[in-house]
Amino acid sequence: MKKTIPITRPTLEPYAKYDAMFRRIIESGMLTNSSLVKEFERQTAEYLGVKHCVAVSTCTAGLMLVLKGLGLKGEVIIPSFTFTATGHPVMWNGLTPVFADIKPDTFEIDPDSVERLITKNTCAILATHVFGVPCEAPALQALAKKHKLKLIFDAAHAFGSSRGGIQAGNFGDAEVFSCSPTKVLTTAEGGIVATNNDRLAEFCRRGRNYGDDGTFDEAFAGLSARMSEFHAAIGLRSMKRLSANLKSRRSRAEYFKKKLLRVESRLQFQTIPADVETTYKDLSLFVDEKTLGYTRDELHEYFKINNISTRKYFHPPLHHHAAYRSYGRPVPVTELVSSSVLSLPLYSSMPMKDIDHVVKVFSAFIHDRKKT
Ligand SMILES: Cc1ncc(COP(=O)(O)O)c(C=O)c1O
Repeated sequence: MKKTIPITRPTLEPYAKYDAMFRRIIESGMLTNSSLVKEFERQTAEYLGVKHCVAVSTCTAGLMLVLKGLGLKGEVIIPSFTFTATGHPVMWNGLTPVFADIKPDTFEIDPDSVERLITKNTCAILATHVFGVPCEAPALQALAKKHKLKLIFDAAHAFGSSRGGIQAGNFGDAEVFSCSPTKVLTTAEGGIVATNNDRLAEFCRRGRNYGDDGTFDEAFAGLSARMSEFHAAIGLRSMKRLSANLKSRRSRAEYFKKKLLRVESRLQFQTIPADVETTYKDLSLFVDEKTLGYTRDELHEYFKINNISTRKYFHPPLHHHAAYRSYGRPVPVTELVSSSVLSLPLYSSMPMKDIDHVVKVFSAFIHDRKKT
């Protein structure tokens, strides 16, 4: 059977590097709520330059806690061009999602679209740093301030990204990262709430533990959303490799783009603004049918039959999912981008020969099309 090139893979270390920590966890009997989680929180907060990092079981759970902790009521403006997990915490908190459109080049939520949707019922903006590119945070911060709204970022893709020299994690009231296996910083499964708000951090600490403050007299209905010591151990090893992993991922992405552009100079990628450092959680191609004469779906299919895994992130956009359809509203740029983007395989330890192979298959696709 021919080898498949995966869309991504976690870049881990040899097992021996984890062994001592895993042994310590087992021998201590402290499987959760102990020193490795605290150390992971300390290191991540130091890296981001924020007051608090609260480790949780997933980014989704972190967002659920943040929205609850901010005491929101009413409408939350969110992008539709995002993963489902941006919307679910809004719904679980009994809030109403209102879908804003995005920018056609960066795929980020468009602050002008957000502003047009603000009403007396709006309580917050929840924006996603798509594929690791931080949103236009200064413009969103100005809007939030002007209209007295809370501002939260779904930073699932963006641990290690920055905009204007400011590390993602420092914008708005809180940012929530994912540490699932597809992220550069991984704990296998996990999330991090980053905030400078003492009260919110305390709420999340309690909230991840049923809402308990040690008295068993819960003031609110929390979640069971702790990070275990094993997950933190994997995260601590991942922190050690973070700079190297970011560097190799970025250089692979740049190499990939250069090579593809040599085959087809009219190709477009997600625009990375000059003041942005992205994690390249995804290397996303924009297949403009009008310019190129073929569709995203045709390219996706060609890669598939050639054992190359690609993803149509984010398609369909959130407002087309059954759970969100009743909240749908016109978002034309989202529709266009969602039907045109394709994420290519990329990970920090991806062999360069695999990148060359993907480029070769792309070249064959172009060649085959010319023949037909
Ligand atoms: C934008 C976005 N938000 C949230 C999540 C959910 O993360 P988790 O699986 O840690 O809950 C993901 C998952 O990849 C995501 O892509």
